Amino acid sequence: MDTVLVTGGTGHLGRDLLPRLKDSYRVRVLARSPGSDPDVEWIRGDLATGEGIAEAVAGCQTVIHAATLSPAARRGYFVPKDLWSSPAEVERDGTARLLEQAAAAGVDHMIYVSIVGIDKPRVPYLRRKLEAEYLVRQGPIPWSIARATQFHWLLDRMLNKMARLPMVPLPDVKVEPVDTADFADYLAESIGNAPLGRLADFGGPEVLSFSEAFDRWRQVRQRPVRTMRIPLPSAVSDAAAAMSISDSDSRRGTVTWVDWLGTHTAE
Ligand SMILES: NC(=O)c1ccc[n+]([C@@H]2O[C@H](COP(=O)([O-])OP(=O)(O)OC[C@H]3O[C@@H](n4cnc5c(N)ncnc54)[C@H](OP(=O)(O)O)[C@@H]3O)[C@@H](O)[C@H]2O)c1
Repeated sequence: MDTVLVTGGTGHLGRDLLPRLKDSYRVRVLARSPGSDPDVEWIRGDLATGEGIAEAVAGCQTVIHAATLSPAARRGYFVPKDLWSSPAEVERDGTARLLEQAAAAGVDHMIYVSIVGIDKPRVPYLRRKLEAEYLVRQGPIPWSIARATQFHWLLDRMLNKMARLPMVPLPDVKVEPVDTADFADYLAESIGNAPLGRLADFGGPEVLSFSEAFDRWRQVRQRPVRTMRIPLPSAVSDAAAAMSISDSDSRRGTVTWVDWLGTHTAE
């Protein structure tokens, strides 16, 4: 059995990925706070400091690198600082450390998880993702990069935060939210393939205007809120637009926004 290392295995995508790998691979996770699943080999470590990386990659054939540090995603909303800086310690520096150690350990395939539409990044976090993609492409290990549109959990978290405002701003952008479980199926499939470079993007089953997505959210979550159309800073609305829509060659998930809302409680 090959060994697969997952970074970000305790995150939203990672938690859906692990069960899909356990039957076919020895699964290892590098985590700052290891989980308790006895079928997973937990390595305590930190991409920001380098702790545990050498141990985590030793004897692995494939790495799925899904760890990320987005302060805006953690909060569920943007603050002005997100428009001019984003930490480099996980995306750029952590990826560089991981690549170096994985190459030294003889890893055969590096799969980097990224975001649709980041080629002209308008916000610093997306620039960090692009830097990480660049490191992976230029790095010594055969690679695949899998980009996805916005995950349902993040849209839900953002709308939950926005709904606390006296008036909810509705930007004129489209969204194409995708289920992490659907995307995890796609990633699990890609481990069995040879490294293929940029994989087909992965998008959701439907494209919605932000207003439609918000209306559906409001109905399912039963939150009485008032809305108004106000423009967002162009950097934010451009970034939201670019990272939200996959192209016609993309693979698509099946779980719709309403179906997802119906089966997940608000975080
Ligand atoms: N969210 C979206 O809408 C979206 C859309 C497309 C693609 N993506 C990409 O998909 C991937 C997974 O995203 P997600 O939404 O599942 O993220 P998430 O839920 O925020 O999880 C992030 C993961 O990274 C880990 N991590 C953060 N800092 C770390 C460090 N210093 N060392 C080691 N691990 C660290 C976290 O562990 P801790 O629990 O210890 O913090 C967590 O397991 C990312 O590459 C992201 O860019 C996300």
